[in-house]
Amino acid sequence: MVKQLASTDRHIRYAARVALERVATSRWAPLVLKSTDANTIITGVAGLARAGSSELREPLLMQLGTLQLSALSVQQRLELVRAVQLVLIRLGQVDDSLRDSLLGAIEPLFPSGDDMMDRELVILLTYLQSPTLGKKALPLLAKERKKTEADFAEILQRNKGYGGPIAAMLQNQPDLQQFHMAFSMRNLKEGWNVDQRKEYFQWFEKAQRWQGGNSYEKFLINAANDAYALSSDQERFVLEALGVRKPASLPKTLPEPKGPGKAYTTEGLAKLASERMKGRNFENGKKMYAAARCVICHRFGGDGGATGPDLTQAAGRFAVNDLIDAVIRPSQVISDQYKTMVLQMEDGTVHTGRIVNEVAGKVTMVVNPEDATKTVTVDRQDVEQEKTSAISLMPAELMDKLNEDEALDLIAYLLSRGNPNAPMFQSK
Ligand code: HEC
Repeated sequence: MVKQLASTDRHIRYAARVALERVATSRWAPLVLKSTDANTIITGVAGLARAGSSELREPLLMQLGTLQLSALSVQQRLELVRAVQLVLIRLGQVDDSLRDSLLGAIEPLFPSGDDMMDRELVILLTYLQSPTLGKKALPLLAKERKKTEADFAEILQRNKGYGGPIAAMLQNQPDLQQFHMAFSMRNLKEGWNVDQRKEYFQWFEKAQRWQGGNSYEKFLINAANDAYALSSDQERFVLEALGVRKPASLPKTLPEPKGPGKAYTTEGLAKLASERMKGRNFENGKKMYAAARCVICHRFGGDGGATGPDLTQAAGRFAVNDLIDAVIRPSQVISDQYKTMVLQMEDGTVHTGRIVNEVAGKVTMVVNPEDATKTVTVDRQDVEQEKTSAISLMPAELMDKLNEDEALDLIAYLLSRGNPNAPMFQSK
């Protein structure tokens, strides 16, 4: 049966693969792994990826790696890339060294110039988090829209209900190739710089103007949100400041703490936390996160502002006491990315904030630490002096309106990373 894998007829290869998948892999894996025939290797590997287990992962990839691309047909190349995908999906995680060698082999293939091949390559390179993909794919997303030639007239006749949207869509169709690539790349986290990120999100603005049927718009929004969730803090900050992404929508009025508050110190709050971190109230912690204004500047669990770092994983980066210290004394440690800059202008004005962008002699600075869209842009040549301020953009004393239980619920909320079932919310 392994012989049939070499057939030039795709249907026969398919049937042979399905049949072989029912046979113990130990009986046919060695034949596939020894073969030098392209079809046998490609289809055989796909079958083994489906039927085999993780110890086959590297031998299968090595065997695929023996194929000379230049000797393969377009169809065979596509199947080869799909076979690689299948091995990765079915047979488990790749470690760093395997990932590097796969990237070394696959990155040079993209872009291939063939649409179908490029779609498969983007899926694979996104999966492998290729650091060069963003840069190489962006020019393809910036291309003029290409309309798909398809006979939709028949669908139009079928049903008045979706006749309307389809008629509109035909007038203003999405570019399916761009759509496919941008959609896959929503999961790409590595290798972006801020300008590339900006260009990527601008593609969604362009695509929003195309018509793609009833759920199209929602679909795009969700894809953009996925990509935004994977963006770095710096990327999000710049995207909001430059108006590429709308800031998180915050409630118009924030809840009020019950109080009465008190002047907290790091030591005092740390001591309370060490004694009373059981039976805390998740919902109240979440409420205090808003009441103490944290939500305006910090994302947590996918929601919140972008002028400060995302705090969802802060519990993993800080010991409890250090986390408390970062909240009580924000100016004690300020990471480089969040330095407050002071621009003293020649005309005597002073601008204080975070610099988001400097191009062609123009400096753009976010001047309101609570709102990344409030920017000023000045000429570099009019800046008399530029200084770093020792004071954090995060205000101190935010906790001081909260009573002890409220303060502890807020700390517990941060420590839980957003999990309402975390130990600190269990009763004693
Ligand atoms: C006006 C905006 C703003 C508000 C409001 C704010 N923060 Fe911050 N926060 C920042 C900025 C900017 C930084 C980064 C600079 C620094 O470390 O001081 C920061 C840093 C932090 C850090 C250190 C994070 C890290 O990874 O280094 C923690 C923890 C933190 N804030 C918690 C809070 C909590 C809790 C609240 C609510 C009580 C809050 N922040 C309110 C802007 C804000």
